[in-house]
Amino acid sequence: MADTGSRAAAPSEVELRALSVAELESAVRQHNHLYWDLAAPVISDYDFDRLVQELARRAPDAAVLQALGPSAAGRHGAEVQHQSPMLSLDKCYDDATLEAWAAKFEGEVLATPKLDGIAASLRYDARGSLVLAATRGSGAVGDDITANVRTIAAIPQRLERAHAVEVRGELYLRKSVFAAFDEQFANPRNLAAGAIKSKDPERCRAYGLSFAPYDLLGDGQATEQEKLAALAALGFELVEHLLVPRDGLRAAYAHFAALRERLDYEIDGVVFKADRIAEQRRLGLTAHHPRFAIAYKFQGDSRTTVLEAVHWSVARSGVITPVAQVQPVELSGAVVSRASLHHAGFIAKLGLSLGAEVLVTRRGGVIPKVECVVRPGDREVRLPECCPSCGGPVLQRGDFLCCAAPAQCRDAVLGALAHFCAVVDLQGFGDKLLGDAYAKGLLRSPADLYRLTRADLLRLERVGEKLADRLLRQLAARRRLPLEVLLRALGIEELGQHVARLLAQHFTSFERVRRVTVAELAALHSVGPVIAAKVVRGLEEAAPLIEALLAEVVLEARARVGPLGGPEDADAAGDRRGPLSGKSFVFTGKLQTLERKAAQRDLAACGATTPAGVSQELDYLVVGAGDAAAPPSSKLLKAQRLQAEGARLQIISEQEFLALLAEAGSARRPAAP
Ligand code: IVH
Repeated sequence: MADTGSRAAAPSEVELRALSVAELESAVRQHNHLYWDLAAPVISDYDFDRLVQELARRAPDAAVLQALGPSAAGRHGAEVQHQSPMLSLDKCYDDATLEAWAAKFEGEVLATPKLDGIAASLRYDARGSLVLAATRGSGAVGDDITANVRTIAAIPQRLERAHAVEVRGELYLRKSVFAAFDEQFANPRNLAAGAIKSKDPERCRAYGLSFAPYDLLGDGQATEQEKLAALAALGFELVEHLLVPRDGLRAAYAHFAALRERLDYEIDGVVFKADRIAEQRRLGLTAHHPRFAIAYKFQGDSRTTVLEAVHWSVARSGVITPVAQVQPVELSGAVVSRASLHHAGFIAKLGLSLGAEVLVTRRGGVIPKVECVVRPGDREVRLPECCPSCGGPVLQRGDFLCCAAPAQCRDAVLGALAHFCAVVDLQGFGDKLLGDAYAKGLLRSPADLYRLTRADLLRLERVGEKLADRLLRQLAARRRLPLEVLLRALGIEELGQHVARLLAQHFTSFERVRRVTVAELAALHSVGPVIAAKVVRGLEEAAPLIEALLAEVVLEARARVGPLGGPEDADAAGDRRGPLSGKSFVFTGKLQTLERKAAQRDLAACGATTPAGVSQELDYLVVGAGDAAAPPSSKLLKAQRLQAEGARLQIISEQEFLALLAEAGSARRPAAP
């Protein structure tokens, strides 16, 4: 990430890791200052959190990590000591962490939108008069903003209470109010921050700030819901909220995500709180956040738009995939008009209809996807009755629709050809050329590529002598292929880079690979029985293609792999360095996608260690996705405590672990030929 100050420059994982500790420190310091002191952030909260997490992982003692928040120089007004610290919120970006959090307490959960505003504390005396208002500041000490707060119509100046209470909440500016000022300020939060710090209360009044209360202290309620009811009775205006069972958190998140655009205030996530105050007391606080609350932050940009049509395309496997055509919307700086609908079954699951208002999300560079229906449409989405490419019959396989005869289906064959060319790295064989060769009857399977003659190529559109010779040279150079590459190029479901590499490392010859059994394959690192069965069946079904290809290409020999996944030959066997060397992993809970032993073997092959327990030195605790309803394990609780105390360890979900492993797998040095 060369430019950490640019709004567009969201650092990729690789870029983040490439930054030195000094660069990370400087970026965190700069963005903290922009956010807190200047109220003018240039990167998203999500990207800021990633910078902080990366720095905390690599240099947990970095001074800037202790100084997050407004600097003394950036503060205005007299200092106010808070009666109890105004803590921050713990954050999460995935369901696994949210579920692990919710498993720690009993009772319902209050879900409220996370407003993007300025936290404030309002103190009322025993007669109910507003006597002091302060910003959150460092959490321990804030700035006195009483004079400005007195100008805010949404904040009652007197309460009907015979004892002193404190109200905490978020000062914010409604989007509709902000519209009048949007040329001078980047967003409502910046303007709210400027308004509340204004030296002139009349200027503050002119901006028409709003206030959303989220806590009432000193009034004795037993639940969060009762607190909100009391706040409403006292004259505070509540924002939308939901009381949900603990298994309804995802639905509550989807509710607010769908509502986001229509709310008259900006939100950047959903705050979940254990409803019962007794449970909150039992869970307690860390120095940074209460354990009874968590913010699930929106990661990507979400907008609602209208579903105009559903298009169907045929993948190389023959699966007929739906893609949504939506009214164009701008998401994270790009205009989006198509969004993924995964598979045919997803349409029924979403209850999708044409003309529906749908929520579309885009995260980083990922393909936008339709998340949910906000308002139903008026026309049914018809599933194709025949293959949209070849017109042949269609099969239903669970959630998927498939062309019954992919080997004879133009789009499926072209998909397989394009996949083969990409994996084998046959340059010059683009979609147009392949389509033309298919139309002229020259290509029906990847093996046909090697049989193309100069005369064949010269029949193709825009192929002259020079290009024909270049294409022939490409084909000649790709007649020697590593086993791993050929396996992947077959285009078999689940036989991607990782499994192809494992097969090639463990079974070395193609003949042996073709005889591999489900049990043998399932016994390998990170290959579960479901994947093993698909690969074995795929290899059987691909027998004619394999025969045809073996008549054209020569396989490169490779070394066999030893029990730990490293190559067996003496030189390399002692070399345990790998993309994860120096990293340690501990598992807790049941893994859903692979056996724990297999995961440990895989890690060893990448150079990582798997100690028995959680300690200060640990790098990752992986929380298995197998049993979401299980109470938090002692390992998880210990890891969370260590984290709260500043340990560098990261708690990651099974999915994140698989992604990390896949990344490490592709960074791993190939075994010696
Ligand atoms: S509950 C310990 N609810 O988010 C604080 N906070 O990033 C418990 N915030 O400082 C706060 N919307 O100012 C809560 N619906 C909401 C919120 C909310 C915004 C702010 C709050 C806090 C910050 C943490």
